[in-house]
Amino acid sequence: MTQNGGRRRQKLAGTPASAGVPLSRALSKLGILSRAQAVQAIRAGRVSVDGVVVRNAAVLVVPERARVLVDGAERRRAAWRTIVFHKPRGVVTTRRDPEGRRTVFDVLGAEGEGLVAVGRLDLATSGLLLLTSDTRLADWITDPVHQVSRVYAVTVRGRIAAAQLAALPGVTLRKASARESHLTVELREGRNRQVRRMFDAIGHEVTRLKRVKLGSLELEDLAPGQFRDILRAEIPVAFPGAPVREV
Ligand code: URA
Repeated sequence: MTQNGGRRRQKLAGTPASAGVPLSRALSKLGILSRAQAVQAIRAGRVSVDGVVVRNAAVLVVPERARVLVDGAERRRAAWRTIVFHKPRGVVTTRRDPEGRRTVFDVLGAEGEGLVAVGRLDLATSGLLLLTSDTRLADWITDPVHQVSRVYAVTVRGRIAAAQLAALPGVTLRKASARESHLTVELREGRNRQVRRMFDAIGHEVTRLKRVKLGSLELEDLAPGQFRDILRAEIPVAFPGAPVREV
């Protein structure tokens, strides 16, 4: 086995000039390692591509064509699979948490192998989290340019005044008492802690937040921690215009 330890971005033999993604990204696309873990594994000399040990995470490879080994074991792209998961409260949406908290992948166990989460839900948020082996589809859904609808059931402290509601687009009030208000919020992008920040800004702390819909996919009666598989044919209906990988 030969070594490839150069620092600049390089192309492996046979990589067309216009094609290829950095090796670290190719590994995270396989859904086995996060990007940061992939960089560490590459630097440690644990990764080879077409028989060459590569220590530069920026080397360009074509994931469909390259033979990638991690710790001597071949890693292939997982078969197409997409699931709707009911993320419970209290778990983090990451592959491995530096603080050691329980993750969505700990809950899913072997069922989460080869999948990436489509966006994130906060630790304290529950509800619909899509996971897929199709990273192009994941990128398309999370790209704000596509304005994919996300619907949340929200409970906040205190009664929201009608004037406050009028200033919040996409928000409808379901019921309210002096103690708390129950609302439905529809957003078309997934900025960090967007719903919590929106209500914090008007002095109403969010006490419960649950995503109930993404595109036209609904959580339905899935219990926290449960999931259901999505058919490829459901994707164009749920996310019109989204790319779906063939194999
Ligand atoms: N908005 C938030 O504040 N948190 C989430 O998890 C999702 C949307």
